Amino acid sequence: MKYDFTTILDRYGKDAIAVDMPTDYLGNYGKVKREEGFDVIPMWVADMNFPVVPSIQKAIIDRVNSPTFGYYAPREEYFNSIIEWQKHFHGIDVRKEEIAYDNGVLGGLISACNVLLSKGDNILLHSPTYVGFTGVLHNNGYNMVHSPLIKKDDTWVMDYEDMEKKIVDNNIKVAVICNPHNPTGRVWTREELEKAMALFEKYGVYVISDEIWADITLNGNKQIPTQSVSEYAREHTVALYAPSKTFNLAGLIGSYHIIYNKWLRERVAKEASLCHYNSMNVLSMHALIGAYGAEGKEWVEELKEVLSGNVNYACDFIRERLPGVSVIKPEGTYMLFIDCEEYCKKNNVTLDDLFYKGWQYGVYWQDGRPFHGEYNIRINLALPLSRVKEAFDRLEKYVF
Ligand SMILES: Cc1ncc(COP(=O)(O)O)c(C=O)c1O
Repeated sequence: MKYDFTTILDRYGKDAIAVDMPTDYLGNYGKVKREEGFDVIPMWVADMNFPVVPSIQKAIIDRVNSPTFGYYAPREEYFNSIIEWQKHFHGIDVRKEEIAYDNGVLGGLISACNVLLSKGDNILLHSPTYVGFTGVLHNNGYNMVHSPLIKKDDTWVMDYEDMEKKIVDNNIKVAVICNPHNPTGRVWTREELEKAMALFEKYGVYVISDEIWADITLNGNKQIPTQSVSEYAREHTVALYAPSKTFNLAGLIGSYHIIYNKWLRERVAKEASLCHYNSMNVLSMHALIGAYGAEGKEWVEELKEVLSGNVNYACDFIRERLPGVSVIKPEGTYMLFIDCEEYCKKNNVTLDDLFYKGWQYGVYWQDGRPFHGEYNIRINLALPLSRVKEAFDRLEKYVF
């Protein structure tokens, strides 16, 4: 590997919620007393434990060396970087006017909802559901209707019949597609997206497609941009992107959306402008430019290889050494959504028992219940492989 995916970073004392703020952030499980001799292996919140690609730090440092930080507008290079990135990785042609900044993907989701829905309206999502969707949709007064994904032939699939019934019964006008899907790691195929879109077209449903994980596909899987599957999809979808998962930039804040339909993008722009503060942080802009260049492209290819290795290791480990625990191998993201139902029932333990024990031995994994997984735990695998191995050894010895 040309880049560093093996150094164990010291993240303490640097404000990282992954290791430093569990009590405030995590309620009860932040209060678990860790056994002596077991350091924290951060495997919950979706950030990575690798140094960023050097071109990002260089871009930020170059900008910091210019000592003014007043008010700024996105420069041409910002848009060109996105246009080139989207073409290179996802094969889509997008023009500058079809791109706009959002203060985070969840902010973009709410701006789009505010255009397309009234408060109290129903919105369709798949479950398991990313907990961030649940929080912001609830807080902004939208009523979530869930269509459960189903497990079929060792993969998670959409239940189109259920989706159609929910659309009709709940007068659905907007659906959220998470592509790739967090927390299951499904990377939807073109056929699946076409089928979902045909259904949405039948009922005039608009789509908000969260593609924050688009760049992180594993083991050769390829992500298909939702807007690319049909003319209806192109005209009725708000697609949300960011460099924050791909390059570990969430702390700098910054994402963007792509909207082809002129009316829709003008309404979303209006909505996004209401708070006045939905504007670019100048360092975040330079970080994106540093990320979306030639070095970043090379780095992401290596990242995908490393993450594929970690995911393969963890899935093999679970299958061979943790009886009663099951997992469907993710095709994208760096998250595992393990299912402990059989283990709990056979051994007469609760998910809480397992979950807290993990924390007690320093494996800071994430409760799957807020994602609608009754017996699930979500595990972040964006760490050096040596740490993933250490975590699974602890799980085998002390937890399961
Ligand atoms: C599917 C999905 N959407 C949105 C976000 C959060 O994005 P942002 O921090 O840009 O709001 C995450 C973070 O993990 C995510 O997994």
